[in-house]
This record gives sequence, structure tokens and C-alpha cells, in this order.
Amino acid sequence: MKEDAIFIDFFTGKSMAPLAAAMHARCFSEAWKEADFISALDIPGTLLQILSIAEEPAAFSLYRIVMDEAEILTLGTLPEFRGKGIAAHLLFSGSEKLKVSGVCCLYLEVGSRNLAAQRLYTKQGFKEIGRRRNYYNHGGKPEDAIMMKNRL
Ligand SMILES: CC(C)(COP(=O)(O)OP(=O)(O)OC[C@H]1O[C@@H](n2cnc3c(N)ncnc32)[C@H](O)[C@@H]1OP(=O)(O)O)[C@@H](O)C(=O)NCCC(=O)NCCS
Repeated sequence: MKEDAIFIDFFTGKSMAPLAAAMHARCFSEAWKEADFISALDIPGTLLQILSIAEEPAAFSLYRIVMDEAEILTLGTLPEFRGKGIAAHLLFSGSEKLKVSGVCCLYLEVGSRNLAAQRLYTKQGFKEIGRRRNYYNHGGKPEDAIMMKNRL
């Protein structure tokens, strides 16, 4: 991956909601609609991050900041860009941006079967702080949510 071809942009408005929805649909079977991104971005403190490589969108993350804490609402790397350190780069630069904005702690929830994402977060310093039993229900297939926190 050539570092100089990577661009990271942050958006607080709704202009990128269509792109975010299209990217989300390529990362998750239960995709958020454009309207879901618009509703999320309507709430003050919501920040959309898009990482592009050579002008092609490759990964995204959506954060919600409340006072000096923030939460990752959703995050994904498009399938063709996976396994190249893109999500790690996205998360690192997102955390730096939050830190300079005065955020001290970043929270998230991840499915207990999502080992790739858990490894990504653990490598970035996130620690498990709790579990919600059967929090997700993927078409009748329950899955625990692992709650994680990282001190920035
Ligand atoms: C999870 C996801 C974001 C990882 O994106 P990525 O760009 O491929 O991740 P990276 O290449 O930056 O990997 C960073 C670290 O995550 C872990 N990781 C990533 N993919 C992995 C996989 N398939 N299996 C095991 N570990 C994995 C590794 O520890 C990796 O570091 P390493 O290669 O040095 O060991 C991506 O697979 C994805 O979008 N999945 C679908 C959506 C999703 O699950 N989002 C998270 C919801 S909480």
C-alpha cells in the first residue's frame, strides 16, 4: 500500500450519505440505508470518515461524539481492499482526529463471532469492558455483543 495514495476525509454533513450507504451495503449483510446515514448525521457530534486510495473510496467509519467520549457506530473496509492494513490506518487516524478534538475514550460494540474485527480493535488497544448476551439477531441466529473501550 502506497501511503501517499491514501486520503482521509471527515464529514459532518449529509452529502456523503449515499456513498456511505453504498459502502456499508458492500460490507454488511444487514445494510444501513441512505436514510439511516442521514438520520445519524442529523445528530450533532456525528462524524463520517472516508478513506480513499488513489481517489477510490476503500473504507469508512461513523463516530458519535458526546462531550469527551465517542463511539464507533459502524466501520468497514470494502472486500477488495481488506487484509492490507486499511482498517488499522482508518482507525488510527480517526482516533488521532478525535483526540485533538478533546475526546479521551472511544467505545464500540462488536459481534462475538466477528473475530477479524475483534483482532483489529484489540491490536489498536481496545479492551473488552462487557458483554450483552444475544444482543444481535441475524435472522434468528443470536450473537453476543462485546463492548470495548480504548483510552486515546
Ligand atoms: C473487520 C474489517 C474492518 C477489517 O478490515 P481490514 O482493512 O481488512 O483490516 P486490516 O487489514 O487493517 O487488519 C488490521 C488487523 O485486523 C485483524 N484482521 C483483519 N482481518 C482479519 C481476518 N480476516 N482474520 C483475522 N484477523 C483479521 C488483524 O489483526 C489485522 O492485523 P495484522 O494483519 O497485522 O494481524 C473488515 O474485514 C470488514 O469491513 N468486515 C466487514 C464489516 C465489519 O465486520 N466491520 C466491523 C464491525 S464491528
